[in-house]
Amino acid sequence: MAGRIPQSFINDLLARVDIVDVVEQRMSLKKAGKNYSGLCPFHDEKTPSFTVSQDKQFYHCFGCQAHGTALGFIMEFDRLEFVEAVETLAAHVGVEVPREQSSRTQPKADPDLYAVLEAAERYYRQSLRNAPEAIDYLKNRGLTGEVARDFGIGYAPPGWQNLSDELRDVKSSLLLDAGLHIKNDKGRVYDRFRERIMFPIRDTRGRVIGFGGRTLSADDGPKYLNSPETPVFQKGSELYGLYEARRALRRIEKLIVVEGYMDVVALAQHGVANVVATLGTATGEAHFHKMYRYADEVVCCFDGDQAGRQAAWRALEGALPTLNEHRQIKLVFLPDGEDPDSLIRQQGRDGFLKFIDNAVPGLEFLFQRLSQGLDLDSVDGRARLAGLVTPYIEKVPAGVLRTLLLQKLQDATGLGASTAVRSKPSSQRKASPSALSKLSERLLTLLLKSPGLWHAAATETREGLLQESEQLGFLGALISYVEHHPEADTEELLVRWSDEERYPELLKRAQKTLEIGPDEMAAEFRDGLDRLYKNLLNHQRRRALAELKQNPDDAEFRKFMQTKESEA
Ligand code: UTP
Ligand code: MN
Repeated sequence: MAGRIPQSFINDLLARVDIVDVVEQRMSLKKAGKNYSGLCPFHDEKTPSFTVSQDKQFYHCFGCQAHGTALGFIMEFDRLEFVEAVETLAAHVGVEVPREQSSRTQPKADPDLYAVLEAAERYYRQSLRNAPEAIDYLKNRGLTGEVARDFGIGYAPPGWQNLSDELRDVKSSLLLDAGLHIKNDKGRVYDRFRERIMFPIRDTRGRVIGFGGRTLSADDGPKYLNSPETPVFQKGSELYGLYEARRALRRIEKLIVVEGYMDVVALAQHGVANVVATLGTATGEAHFHKMYRYADEVVCCFDGDQAGRQAAWRALEGALPTLNEHRQIKLVFLPDGEDPDSLIRQQGRDGFLKFIDNAVPGLEFLFQRLSQGLDLDSVDGRARLAGLVTPYIEKVPAGVLRTLLLQKLQDATGLGASTAVRSKPSSQRKASPSALSKLSERLLTLLLKSPGLWHAAATETREGLLQESEQLGFLGALISYVEHHPEADTEELLVRWSDEERYPELLKRAQKTLEIGPDEMAAEFRDGLDRLYKNLLNHQRRRALAELKQNPDDAEFRKFMQTKESEA
């Protein structure tokens, strides 16, 4: 991960650009009095309610409430991550983005790494042209040269040092850092990828960040070999094919996520371009955060075997914290033994799309699967269902969707809200605001001024607070945001919460001068966070205890008390 972008640079950058320019490059605006207006790019409308204020350097849509600075606009419009948006904006005014020395121990993302990876990609592509056996392999799998070109597919020939020979001028340590070389126990260094079809993995800007390599011979090591994690390649959030999908499609309404490289490529070959794959890892929360930036519907289309069904369930769990009423997750269960590649080759595009159209809504599936084996005609069965479903519903962020799910649970179980909710009271009870508010206020200011503090706090405390984040009001929202956006800095947070009401207060906090240095801030934050967490647990315990006295027979409740007691 690269060092942080200095806050002062972002401030200067925003001061140098004119939001009107930035917006006008992307859509047409008309001058209307002091402001500019146009058709909102973020929702469908016939009369313009989107306005840009040159004075305030702010945009706002009166139709859908979208709003923010030039940076926020670029993030939303170009669908970029924060850092990418800063880089875009910097390019717009023709300046380089400086990076602070990273205080974290992670190695820095050396710009040279990208260059090496790109050179390797070029070499593999070149080698494919001279390797009839590899070309035959791809042809046999139904791929044309055109699709191979679109994905930059290449070939690593047999041999231990082809790449070293090709990139003779590149330092060996750089090839190791890029994951292209391996060192064995004896200290010998050699090419990681040998005799493999090479699939370059790109980030959303199209830069090569890693590779997946498929062996040509059935009995040579693992079928697929992937780049290891490197400073530029994190498997937990990268998706194969996302860059290519975005390039092929103007708008992605629905993203299909599959298990394999070949699935992505084969589907693209048959004209289904809205497909991505995880990189030999489970589809987790970070993947969903990313996918939902580009599409409101994600369809998980995994192999039709036991492992595929398990992967679907785990993906569903990973998706829950990222869902809201606008976002959908659906699951497709392919026939046993098939994968998307084999299926589309047998049944063609239309056949495959029928499966996608018949995808099961994930939340329906959740209820169905958890109801399995329960007798919903009995009180006991319904209570068990409530007990099973509630923890999942609680993973969904508070909001319309969660309320609907609780409603659905009530409909399914006939249990009133209080009963269903009582089976796990922790998140439903508000901690006493007076006891905690002063502390949270202070933590809020510290965190806003220096979001990196969060990642330096104790893991246990962090996890505990994240679980209870919605009891923490705005501080809770902020910590879950920072947790999922480790690069976020003050400006990004301001942009994210730039709604008219909250923005001035946040700005004030962010600009507040603290009379303490970074080390003291870190210590204060860490201690404060620990205190907050302890308070929260104690408070919950007391409430639960009081409740237990009123309902001494409630077995679920006793269980909850026991767990909380032993945790605290
Ligand atoms: P599969 O074993 O389902 O292979 O792995 P596949 O995609 O159908 O491949 P083909 O059709 O035989 O070529 C699915 C994904 O799991 C990861 C890779 O990302 C692969 O695309 N994988 C699989 C590995 O990382 N290593 C392996 O040895 C196997
Ligand atoms: Mn396959």
